[in-house]
Amino acid sequence: MSMKISPTNFFNEKYRPQFHFTPIKNWMNDPNGMVYFQGEYHLFYQHHPESTVWGPMHWGHAVSSDMVHWEHLPIALFPDENGYIFSGSIVVDTWDSSGFFDGGEGLVAIFTHAGEHPDTKTPRQVQSLAYSTDKGRTWTKYEGNPVLEDTSIADFRDPKVIWYEKESKWIMVLSAGNHVRFYSSSDMKSWRFESSFGEKEGSHLGVWECPDLFQLPIEGGHRWVLIVSIGDDPAYTEGSRTQYFIGDFDGKMFTNENDSEKVLWLDFGRDNYAGVTWSNVPKEDGRRLFIGWMSNWKYANQVPTETWRSAMTLPRSLTLNSTREGIRLVQTPVQEISALRKPITSIQRTITLIPGENILKDIKTKTFELKACFKIKEAAVFGIKVHQSKEEETIIGYDSDRSVLYVDRRRSGDKTFHNEFSCVQEMEVFIEDQFALQIFVDTSSVEVFANDGKHVLTSLIFPREESNGLELFLDHGAVDLKSLDLFDYQSIWAIGGS
Ligand code: FRU
Repeated sequence: MSMKISPTNFFNEKYRPQFHFTPIKNWMNDPNGMVYFQGEYHLFYQHHPESTVWGPMHWGHAVSSDMVHWEHLPIALFPDENGYIFSGSIVVDTWDSSGFFDGGEGLVAIFTHAGEHPDTKTPRQVQSLAYSTDKGRTWTKYEGNPVLEDTSIADFRDPKVIWYEKESKWIMVLSAGNHVRFYSSSDMKSWRFESSFGEKEGSHLGVWECPDLFQLPIEGGHRWVLIVSIGDDPAYTEGSRTQYFIGDFDGKMFTNENDSEKVLWLDFGRDNYAGVTWSNVPKEDGRRLFIGWMSNWKYANQVPTETWRSAMTLPRSLTLNSTREGIRLVQTPVQEISALRKPITSIQRTITLIPGENILKDIKTKTFELKACFKIKEAAVFGIKVHQSKEEETIIGYDSDRSVLYVDRRRSGDKTFHNEFSCVQEMEVFIEDQFALQIFVDTSSVEVFANDGKHVLTSLIFPREESNGLELFLDHGAVDLKSLDLFDYQSIWAIGGS
């Protein structure tokens, strides 16, 4: 049974995102098994179908032809005698390396079973397989599960499997408490340990989770990128977040090209966690795509939505950029999202901002994209206030004195559900010439991409329905607006589903 969503019956509940993926009802966390196969993008996700809080994990499922409109499908994987179905990945097994497909091709899911040891009844996390011969609609668990276990490690999960072209073998990277481990295989049923990485690298302000490994082109060559999410440790106000490493992978080992203590954060907002990547090869362009869970373990179970909990970030395309400090990830929202644009206004001339004068004062919108370009002439604090009313506003601002881009959600709406939700999220951004800002605002989120995706902040907010104003502000200093384009966004649920 697939689900046709009409905005007139539901999906118009308070706080329901209108152009971000959400489950029809109940709990969702990490995106899982992202894969492009036979013309469809698949999104699986950590799902508790019985409740709006985390519990026995299943894999929920949806498909899309454009990563924008999603069709909800029945649950793909259910807990079993080996435990709950935790996060994992899916590969297209084109040459039937697994032997599941009678010489043809199909999908193989590699996931963590979180359960107990059958003899000792102590908790254990092991890696297992399931396969599908009908485009992901139904799944059969492999009778030889689990395929990988190591009872010496309690947190041993979130396998990401990739095809390592150079040596024609599968590589699995998975998290093992305070580091990641690499394994290799020819059939995904038996795995050989290759190496581990990270015990003394990057941030350890939480357990390591959801690793991802991929290659991106740069300067006529390429680099390997290793993404690692780190879980919420109550000692740190930021909660769960995602770091990445840049370096080389030789089929056995990952080498970090930065100092081991250097931490590269993927996103400086609080709400982009457990993100994973995939590619749409053999489609036309082979982009490296990314999607994250738009929440934070610090308060994910308490956010004030009633019938469902959590949304995904917008799907983004990842590239590398060479900076003075080294090579860094760049994230840009996939261009497919622009199909939702309904132009509201376009300003293509220079306007000098004046404190107290809001050129957007007549516009009311709560779901939109804004693209603007600024020239800072004198040290200034300026930006855009969204979901604004007398009582509320979320400020996306730039402070050129401190070279800081920020999202201030201290007056953004409901924040009573957790005492650390109210905050200012900041990142250092140096502007040499013009400042380009692209923001996507949905009913309960803000995604900021500055300077063409080099700086990213993703943040949840829970404003009232009446807070629909917009303000372009200059606090002090001298700034010219060079251009501005504002687009209303349609609901994906109005025309999505089938
Ligand atoms: C990350 C995570 C994973 C785990 C899953 C359980 O958010 O904790 O490590 O597989 O969620 O739902």
